[in-house]
Amino acid sequence: MSNEFDLIVVGGGPAGYCAAIHAARKLKPQGGKTALVEAAELGGTCLNTGCIPTKTLIETTGVTEKIAMAAQRGVVVNGEVSFDLGKVFQYKNRVVKKMATGVAALLRENGITILDGTASVRKNGDHFSVTVTKKHENATEEFVARKIILATGSVPTMFPIPGMESPEVSARIYTSDDLLSADQLPGLPTKLAILGGGVIGVEMARVMTAFGCEAHIIEALPRLVPMLDVEISQALTKTLLARKIKITTGKKLLRIESGPPGLLLHIEGEDKPLEASHLLVAVGRSPKIDMLDAELRAALEPDRRGAIPVDGAMKTKVPGLFAPGDVNGRCMLAHAAMSMGKIAAESAVGEREAEEFDVQKVPACIYGEPEIGFIGLTEEAAREKFGDKISVGRFAFIANGRAASAGHRDGFVKVIRKVDSSQLLGVHIVGPCASELINEAAVVLTAGMSVERWADTVHGHPTFGEALIEAATDSFDAAIHLPPKQ
Ligand code: NAI
Repeated sequence: MSNEFDLIVVGGGPAGYCAAIHAARKLKPQGGKTALVEAAELGGTCLNTGCIPTKTLIETTGVTEKIAMAAQRGVVVNGEVSFDLGKVFQYKNRVVKKMATGVAALLRENGITILDGTASVRKNGDHFSVTVTKKHENATEEFVARKIILATGSVPTMFPIPGMESPEVSARIYTSDDLLSADQLPGLPTKLAILGGGVIGVEMARVMTAFGCEAHIIEALPRLVPMLDVEISQALTKTLLARKIKITTGKKLLRIESGPPGLLLHIEGEDKPLEASHLLVAVGRSPKIDMLDAELRAALEPDRRGAIPVDGAMKTKVPGLFAPGDVNGRCMLAHAAMSMGKIAAESAVGEREAEEFDVQKVPACIYGEPEIGFIGLTEEAAREKFGDKISVGRFAFIANGRAASAGHRDGFVKVIRKVDSSQLLGVHIVGPCASELINEAAVVLTAGMSVERWADTVHGHPTFGEALIEAATDSFDAAIHLPPKQ
């Protein structure tokens, strides 16, 4: 194998593998060569320790939610419902393995050379040198590339909390990576404190309580998932409290010490320490850039968090090096990473100048019961930007026929538009299938369709999606299934 490539992609997560496939499809017909280096498992955080395992566990816990509804629907379930955690995690591992095998096959079918090992990258004149330390051998190999796509992702952020240095304490501190491999731990936590009420904090609280663990979320800011529209965050808080998940907001964790049942957490303004068997730290993720040599790292000018600045075409300050995905810190979501990976590939093969990555058009979701989906501006951000020149339409799922037949009484949709142009500004959903419904809003927003036109599109009946056009119509005070407004 010649060790010279036109493009080496570092990292096999959603940004990296999508970038490699897009680039190889352009380069291969012209005789160009693409390689991808992966230090751990193909599929990255999303597939191995993020989206896919979490969603698999959430789907598993959802089975019990369905069984809980059985009696009121006249379905008789005899016997006790419980989890065989060994099998729960085996199932999750099988799903992950199947998906990772699929990624490897796709890379091979597109003629991409997969290098198993840890890359370190440096600039060498007009090309890049990549040293790969092989995964299962104590050996290194040198490669050369004209261009690099750096898609090395992120790692859970850890920061020092007084008391954490004690081995008894640190042994009881987990990241989401640990909990998603709970079959490798001595046992599941019984009383889990969660530092950080963001997306991971909320999803893990839901999963762990379904498995019988108590959970208490500590969020430094005044509300859960601070990036959410306020009304949606409030609705989320209500559902978590109803499930006996405890929540402390607007307070900091000051100190940790060991003590029964494992940890004592001293929280500002609280007289008594919070007792927990374990602590999950979920305060965000930090870009991973330790594979760059000092000179190249300095030239890329990472910010305080380690994020590498890029323009909308994923170009960095170093010509020939592109940085899509979590490593640029713009939007740490797998689907955003896939989109950035495609843009980076097109930039690298010299095609992309025009359309740029736009974070406002990226939907985001929080999974569990109920789901949350959102895109664009929150009502608060829209008011800040456009004052009273916005109109907000709402529709509650309690008045949606499909939701009623499926037994979903809670949740609502919010559509925010500009008054003058009818331009869609944001959509926020809490309720059934929100993670699917939000894709429709993404299409409307990306296509630049007016809310007026959207409200006129015919939706199947009965479907959850009708709630979207009802909310869109309500922004004109004209929803058919809502009482007339004065
Ligand atoms: P996050 O940024 O969503 O939330 C972290 C939370 O921790 C914030 O609310 C922040 O205010 C809080 N925080 C920070 N320092 C704190 C402190 N000292 N004490 C208490 N609270 C503190 O980060 P998270 O949840 O760790 O997730 C990491 C990334 O992974 C995010 O970008 C997230 O969007 C992504 N992700 C996406 C999922 C999805 O799409 N469903 C699922 C899980 C993660």
